[in-house]
Amino acid sequence: MEGKIVITSKTKDGLDFITASPKPRAFRPGMKEKKGFKIPRKLIIRYLTKDDAEAMWEYINVLSKEQTFITFQGEQISLEDETKYLIGQLENIKNQKSVQLLVFIEKKMVGVSGIEMKAKIEGHVGKFGISIAKEFRGQGIGKMLMEAVLNEAKANLPALKIVELDVFANNPLAIQLYEKLGFQKFGELPEGVLHRGEYVGHIYMYKRVR
Ligand SMILES: CC(C)(COP(=O)(O)OP(=O)(O)OC[C@H]1O[C@@H](n2cnc3c(N)ncnc32)[C@H](O)[C@@H]1OP(=O)(O)O)[C@@H](O)C(=O)NCCC(=O)NCCS
Repeated sequence: MEGKIVITSKTKDGLDFITASPKPRAFRPGMKEKKGFKIPRKLIIRYLTKDDAEAMWEYINVLSKEQTFITFQGEQISLEDETKYLIGQLENIKNQKSVQLLVFIEKKMVGVSGIEMKAKIEGHVGKFGISIAKEFRGQGIGKMLMEAVLNEAKANLPALKIVELDVFANNPLAIQLYEKLGFQKFGELPEGVLHRGEYVGHIYMYKRVR
């Protein structure tokens, strides 16, 4: 599984783009609107390898500084800790306890998503997470990545029955994406998250996969 490519923008006819989303929103010069949004550079979605520590470390620290809708809110992670995390993830993937995919565009890591199995009485439940680098949001990559992770999870996590996730209540774009892919809200902890100095709700969602 290590390094396995799940999606690549090199199409059969040799074109260097793929159609990612039926409703494009954020256009950049050179992109054409036709049936879908076209990512005009080489994009790869693949499993991690042991050589990804540095790319993942830079990625998470940039995202943390942004204080976006993720757990890390400014704190910086050491390369040593990120390497330990990566080694643990590779082990979990091998043992069918986790799937995790990275997105690269021309060698730059621009996204990550995964599902991690819980343990014991919750051994049939997997926790989902996703993020895309700021400059690459709103182009259909998140949706494509999430679909790929859900497919890989169904194929490679035999114990998985329910996927759950949590999302900040002030993150309507993510909530909309999750609803589109079949997730339902099952609860909210009011003021459950401290985001940029303010308490906001923490929303919980789930989807049955088998
Ligand atoms: C949430 C996130 C992963 C979505 O990825 P993305 O690549 O930006 O999303 P996509 O372009 O694939 O859009 C998927 C759906 O999200 C919604 N969406 C995303 N951007 C949108 C925008 N600018 N306007 C309206 N809807 C938008 C739409 O429902 C869209 O579906 P559609 O393409 O069928 O219209 C990404 O924006 C991100 O990483 N945000 C910061 C971190 C974060 O919020 N992580 C989730 C924590 S729970």
